[in-house]
Amino acid sequence: MHNKINEIKKNESSPRVIKNLFDKDQISKFLNLYEQLPTTVHNKKQNVIKKRWLKEYGKELEELFYSKLKNEIGEFKYDNLKTDNGEEIYGLFQESYNPIGLHIDGGFNFEDLIYKQSLIPLTPVGSTVIFKNRYYGKSTNFTIDKNELEITKLNYGQNLRSNKHIGMFGSKPFNTKDHENYLKHENIDNLIGLEIELVYEWELGSMLIFDRTNLHCSSSKIEGKKIGLTTFTKK
Ligand SMILES: [Fe+2]
Repeated sequence: MHNKINEIKKNESSPRVIKNLFDKDQISKFLNLYEQLPTTVHNKKQNVIKKRWLKEYGKELEELFYSKLKNEIGEFKYDNLKTDNGEEIYGLFQESYNPIGLHIDGGFNFEDLIYKQSLIPLTPVGSTVIFKNRYYGKSTNFTIDKNELEITKLNYGQNLRSNKHIGMFGSKPFNTKDHENYLKHENIDNLIGLEIELVYEWELGSMLIFDRTNLHCSSSKIEGKKIGLTTFTKK
């Protein structure tokens, strides 16, 4: 559990969507940046490409991004994984062809006062599901899949695997309509006790902001691939 749990809770708020924050030109600048960046991870099994926004790239865009985000959430520090040289990065671009499963991005350091995370869609089709339920541990993928749960050897920055969420939020079965509409890629038994707070329909130019403690995942809605830019913050 995080040590600064009381302070973390004080900063919590409902997820929020800000529309028309970036214009078309700015979105294409983000996409150009994405093209230029070296690939960090290409997981062929999960069909996902991850690229870190390294600080020597897109300096002007970073100023724009920082001021826009600060305007919404106030003072913050970046809390993304560091590079091999220990250098800060500004965010993580993710290109995915399959929906990402249920997880939390609580980070890896219980001393940190984790705060908000942002998501900027760079492709028009997709959606992200934020649950009301919260968790105060490290970055974790929540699963009841036995093979997944056996994965305990993790590299730097890899999420833990856990089924601790089962029972933590009660035993109410997940809403079958919500499952059918948004979460067909998830085993409904993996969603016991969960309740949706917000379904964010991706829209270019908008940004989603939510707490680092909110459980979340992609919805099943993907047409081909989707690209998003995520940034994690702390105080
Ligand atoms: Fe996430």
